[in-house]
Amino acid sequence: MRILAIETSCDETAVAIVSMMDGVFTIEKSILSSQAKIHALYGGVVPEVAAREHAAWIFPLMKDVGVSPEGEGIDAIAVTAGPGLVPALRIGVELGKTLAWAWNKPLVAVNHLEGHIYSVWLNTEKPPSFPALSLLVSGGHTEFILMKDHGDYTLLGMTRDDAVGEAFDKVAKMLGLPYPGGPQISREALEGDATAISFPRPMLDSQDLDLSFSGLKTAVRVYLSEHDDISVADVSASFLQAVVDTLVAKTMRAITQTKPVSVILSGGVSANRVLRETLQSSISQLDAEVTFHAPDLSLSGDNAVMIAVAGLMKASRGEYVDPLTLVADPNMRLA
Ligand code: KG4
Ligand code: ZN
Repeated sequence: MRILAIETSCDETAVAIVSMMDGVFTIEKSILSSQAKIHALYGGVVPEVAAREHAAWIFPLMKDVGVSPEGEGIDAIAVTAGPGLVPALRIGVELGKTLAWAWNKPLVAVNHLEGHIYSVWLNTEKPPSFPALSLLVSGGHTEFILMKDHGDYTLLGMTRDDAVGEAFDKVAKMLGLPYPGGPQISREALEGDATAISFPRPMLDSQDLDLSFSGLKTAVRVYLSEHDDISVADVSASFLQAVVDTLVAKTMRAITQTKPVSVILSGGVSANRVLRETLQSSISQLDAEVTFHAPDLSLSGDNAVMIAVAGLMKASRGEYVDPLTLVADPNMRLA
């Protein structure tokens, strides 16, 4: 089966064609147009601006991806239906619905978070086995999800306030670094001392799998207001270390509680090298054999390939939606 996927939930306009044969995925085409530079002017993503940019870019991208006007060779269409920014989501959803109706092809509504999780099924010879514990860390979400099988999700815990990517973006702003802040802080941190400032490791005492990053963000703000001569590199490295320590400690607790055979790290923040390496190394020291999976760096941020893979899996189960009634859902839940 060959699927055409469309992703417009935030600030990347992306289109991809991916095929699945005997459980193996092949990326045939993947095109992405990032609006990050435009939103950097405003210090964050402006939903209406994002929608306008998606509308301007989606047709040139469809042309570049090489689909024929009749949709020949495409078996189904997958589109991100949520969660995300409503005006942005609508551009992709309306296009997906229109194409599905005009071409008379089945339509799959993909949850963006499910897309991130499926990014680890690409470029690998050994995909995760079940049960898999998923730590999803993006600009809008920070969640522990237990995946017992394809399409079978249980929410174990989530952030009670800011998503971890959001905390990176806000701390970067305080430090005068441009949007998106995650890659900037990661770069600054390379030159800094992670033990220079002792920021809090939130929620480590609570036995649940919830997280919180707003207090850590405030601790950085207080530190900056009380010190004149700060080192951006040291603040970045110390903040990053607090985030990594917290996420890794909570993930290890989640492993103890749920006993998975695989751990999946995904979402934009999974691009962070310190987080990847620390988590991988902690998992490798466990007595039980637990495999670790993180996406190829080219697929850690938003893209349409991951939407295609999640879409192909749903299509293989016959989970289609009606192109006349699908509505973008900004709060769409996975579990
Ligand atoms: O998954 P994603 O591309 O979009 C959402 O679905 O939200 O995640 C974007 C988030 C942003 O907050 C960005 O700052 C963060 O991922 N990010 C990083 C890194 N690269 C991107 N955070 C930490 N370290 C990075 N290397
Ligand atoms: Zn995302």
